[in-house]
Parts: sequence; C-alpha cells; structure tokens
Amino acid sequence: MRNIAEQALAETQAAEVQDIRAYLAEQENKTLLRFLTCGSVDDGKSTLIGRLLYDTKLIFEDQLAALERDSRKHGTAGEDIDFALLVDGLEAEREQGITIDVAYRFFSTSKRKFIVADTPGHEQYTRNMATGASTADLAIVLVDARQGMLVQTRRHSIIASLLGIRHIVLAVNKIDLVGFDQTVFERIAADYKAFAGNLGFESIVPIPMSARYGDNVTRVSEHMPWYDGPVLLQHLETVDAQPSAENRPFRFPVQYVLRPNLDFRGFAGTIASGTIAEGDPVVVAKSGKPSRVKRIVTYDGDLKQAVEGQAVTIMLEDEIEVSRGNMLVAPDARPQVADQFQAKIIWFNEHALLPGRSYLLRTETDQVNSTITELKYRINVNSFAHEAAKSLELNEVGVCNISVQSPIAFDPFGENRTTGAFVLIDRLTNATVGAGMITHSLRRAANIHWQALDVTKHSRAEQKHQKPAVLWFTGLSGSGKSTIANLLEKKLHVSGRHTYILDGDNVRHGLNRDLGFTEEDRVENIRRVGEVARLMADAGLIVLVSFISPFRAERRMARELMEEGEFIEVFVDTPFEECVKRDPKGLYARALKGEIKNFTGVDSPYEPPEQADIHLQTVGRSPEEMVDYLEDWLRERGYC
Ligand code: ADX
Repeated sequence: MRNIAEQALAETQAAEVQDIRAYLAEQENKTLLRFLTCGSVDDGKSTLIGRLLYDTKLIFEDQLAALERDSRKHGTAGEDIDFALLVDGLEAEREQGITIDVAYRFFSTSKRKFIVADTPGHEQYTRNMATGASTADLAIVLVDARQGMLVQTRRHSIIASLLGIRHIVLAVNKIDLVGFDQTVFERIAADYKAFAGNLGFESIVPIPMSARYGDNVTRVSEHMPWYDGPVLLQHLETVDAQPSAENRPFRFPVQYVLRPNLDFRGFAGTIASGTIAEGDPVVVAKSGKPSRVKRIVTYDGDLKQAVEGQAVTIMLEDEIEVSRGNMLVAPDARPQVADQFQAKIIWFNEHALLPGRSYLLRTETDQVNSTITELKYRINVNSFAHEAAKSLELNEVGVCNISVQSPIAFDPFGENRTTGAFVLIDRLTNATVGAGMITHSLRRAANIHWQALDVTKHSRAEQKHQKPAVLWFTGLSGSGKSTIANLLEKKLHVSGRHTYILDGDNVRHGLNRDLGFTEEDRVENIRRVGEVARLMADAGLIVLVSFISPFRAERRMARELMEEGEFIEVFVDTPFEECVKRDPKGLYARALKGEIKNFTGVDSPYEPPEQADIHLQTVGRSPEEMVDYLEDWLRERGYC
C-alpha cells in the first residue's frame, strides 16, 4: 500500500513526464526557419546573432560568465558585453578581429525553431557565404547605417538570389550612431529596394536597429517612434518558412549501398524532395530501370512513408543495379540526364576560372571531370549588366556552358536546390573553387552520337608497323623542344615510321591564329592541340608535340585524352638563364625590356613537370645525343 506522500510524488512525476511530452510535441510541430547573416566585416553580424541568443535566453550561466570575462580581455565594447565574442568562437578570429568560417547555431522560441549560419563578411570569403546559404530560406543583409550599401552588400544579395533564398531582411544596423535618424534609414531602404527589387525575392523587409543595444532586435525600440514595422525576431517568427514539400517529385540521391548480409540490400541517403511510401514505384534516374519500394528502414524501425529531409534506407523489390552516385526518382517525373548544360557559377578561388581547363564537378551523387566549354558572360554585381569575359576572377559570378565526361542526372536549380547544385574542385590542389547552379541542359549535345567506325586505331597502326604515341615536349621558349623534336622526327622518318610534328609556332599560324598568350588563351591553345594529337594518334601516327604548355593542369588533361601508355611527357629542361643566353628568336631580350607581355619565365609562369616520363637536362649535351637517347627509350618500349 503506498502512502500519500508516495502517491503525490508519483503524480508529480507523471505530470512532469506529461509536461516534457507536451514540450517535445510542441518542439516537433514547430516550423524551422533556416537563415543566414551577411554583410561586410564591421557591420555587426556576430553582435546581432549574439544579441538574438542573449535576448531569447539561450545563453547559459557559465557561457555568460566567460563572455563577461572575455569582453574585458578582447572586447571592443568597453564595459558592455561584446556579443560578437560569443559567436566568434575561434580564438584565431578574435585575434584577427574577423569571422572566418561558417558557424551554425540552433535556437528556438515558443513559436519557431531556427538554424542560423553566421557567414563571414571578409572580401575573400564568398565561398563560406555560398556554403552557408545553400539551404537557407532567409538572409539578413546587414548594412552599417553610417555607410549605407557597399559592393559587398550587392554581391551578397546577388549570391543570395542565385542560391534560391526567398526572403531578405535589410538590417540597417548601428542606427544609434546616426542619432536614430529616420531619413538615413529611409534612404538606405529605398536604395536597397531599387537595387534588389528585380532579384526575384518574395519579400524584402528593412528594419532599423542597433544590435549592440538591442533596439528592434527582440524588443521595440523607444528611440524610433517613427518606425511601425516588425522587430527582427517577430518577423523571423512569422515569415513564411520552407515551401511545402507537397507536389514536388520524389528525389533520393543514393549515398551508400548497404549490404551487411546476403538477405539485405538497401540504399541509404536523405530524401532531397517529395515523399515515398512502401509499395511506391521508383526508377533509377540514369538507367531508367524500374522497381518498387519494399521497405523504408530507419534506426527506429520501418516506416510506411517518408518525406523530404528524412534520412532513410530504401529496399527495393528487385535486384537492380543502383550504385553510389545514382538517384531513385519518381517514374512519372524524372530528372534530366545530360552531359552538357548551362549553369550559373560563383567563383571563389584566387586562381581564375578558365574556360577549357578541366575541373572536378561534384553533385550530391556524382563526381565527374568537367570543362567550361563557354563562358557566356559575367554578371556585374553593381549594375547586373552581362559583360563579356574570358575568365572569372575571385568572387565573380558568371553564366557558363559546361560539358562533363559522363552524363549526370539533375533538375534545374530553380526546381530543386539539392539536385540542381554542384561544386567545382581544382584537380591539382583539391580545393573547392566554385559553386554552380544548373539552369538547363543543352539540347545541341543530345543529337550527336559517337559514330563507330570499322577501321580502328589498332588496324591503322598495325598497317604502319608501329604503336601510336604522343611525345609531348614541354619547356621554356628556346629550351630546344623544336630542335630535338625535328631531329627525332627525321630519324624516325628515315627508319620508315609515320610521324607528324605539331609545333607551337606553326599551329599558331593556322588553327590557333586567334589565340594570344594570356593564361586563358594558353589553356585553349593546349586543349585544341591535345584534341588534334588525339586524332592523329587515332590515325595510328607517332605524334611529336612541341609546345611550351606551361600549366600542369592542361598537360594532365592532354594525358587523359590518350590511352594508357600513349602519352609520353618529355621535359626539355633548360634553365631560364640559359634560354635568355641562347635567345634564338631575340624574344627574351624584348620581353625583358617589357616590349612583349606575358612572356613565359618573365611575367608569365612555367610549371615544370613533377614526374615527366623523360627528363632531358640539355645543358652540356648535344641535341644528337639526346635524340639517340629518346630513340633507344622508344625502341625499348616497343614504340618503334
Ligand atoms: S604555349 O604557352 O601556349 O604552349 P606555344 O608553344 O604555343 O606557347 O608558343 C610559344 C612560342 O610563341 C614561343 O616559342 C615564341 O616563339 C612565341 N611567343 C610569342 N610571344 C610569346 C610569349 N608572350 N610567351 C611565350 N612565347 C611567345
């Protein structure tokens, strides 16, 4: 028999459990708003987020004590609490006084849950902005009331619109420093609306505020009776959040194929859009192979149905081929599959994007080699003008045609922000150098198929009793490439080999007469000559290519065009000083006087091969000696 005290305790506990359940249910049912802050370095982004967290009581006691201590040590706010310190978590950032990485914070109020990405405002950190914004619904664009709109404000707003963000809050911050002046606020708000009005945002809400003192952040400021709009938090709590998942076709990028034992084969991933239920038909995006959903498995047991955003493992009725890098999709609304498409690109690397260069393109599911086949135009971030451009520099935005080595499955970015996005990766450094949003596939590619021919490379080469090869001579101008290639060809020719020399100076008189010596033009120069060398190897020839070919990336691209063992990189290694001394065409003398621009070794770089197949150090050796060596090398390996 329980006594009354025990009974009371049990009841209280039951009530508490009820409370917790109710609380959790309430949390579950709250909508989620993802937003980000952007602005220039001193606009006060971190202070604003710190203020939001502080005013919504989301800072714990110990954090508060640490914050007060740190404010005295590092702070820039005198005796007041420096809220930026709360957010700028990294010690390094404190020392430098700038925010350097994307930090995600979670907080919630009684009305809604929030995830905020704090993105850096420093000029070179557009990359982080693009990363932080990729899933956000709203952007808070901060401007300093004293400065008004800056180039950064425009650039970040354009990027926000490219990334599919629908709502903008224009936070006119530090309004206290202009005496809470209504005209200052109204002028900045009008400037911004004039600029961003046609960027396609669903809403633009300007709010005058002082993040440091909390005016109009979570509570109405008594200093601005003239302002009758919402305060920031109120707006964040009520603005329409994610668009509904209904009516969007099912997309399930497969992240892993799980096969723990012979009876279980499941595809793990996160539903990018739409819904799926047990028994639903699906197809594999690229192959079009059909099946049905047998089970939807999660850690907490099977589901009858799953929706956008959920991470699940899907088992199918049939044993069909679905590798990692493929997508399960709705049969009646399939994504596009193409190897050429148009995309908007945001470039965030110091080294410019160059059409013709090959980059690794990574989507949610695929990783393929790609080339920008055409840079159609650059978008001027101040005027939106479409400007002709040959390259995209750091932080620039452009529209390009892209060709990938094998087809990928995608949706236009406007329809799906997951399956329509990709990043570009530098193949030599592995750095992420750009973000892309696919607009549409290019039809012109769809009607061109590879024509199979009966006479093959093999039969053509056999008839000539030789093995096709591309001897790729690289080195500075005047290093001796052409001299050596010419002598070697003579010897091969005498011994009955079928050869051809592609020489930089000569090809630049015809096929490449439209190209100069800028970085972009050199990339295109080598791309074209690589393609020509490939055709010649296909004709069964031994091809000798003699081009400076100063960049590793393009030499690597040329190598990849050929079959295994076909490409032989010959580094004609003559030191710069020696080339200047020889100066066979008198070009170095002129370049050193500044009469020729972009001259290799003078004011344009040469990247020596790291692992050439053949390394010829020319100083102290005669051309004949080196050609004998090359001939032996080729004979030993069965090329001639
Ligand atoms: S590459 O860099 O694009 O591979 P390529 O081999 O075609 O160069 O052409 C190099 C030749 O063009 C040189 O041997 C030289 O005769 C001539 N030339 C004229 N201007 C330049 C320049 N600015 N830099 C290098 N070579 C130049």
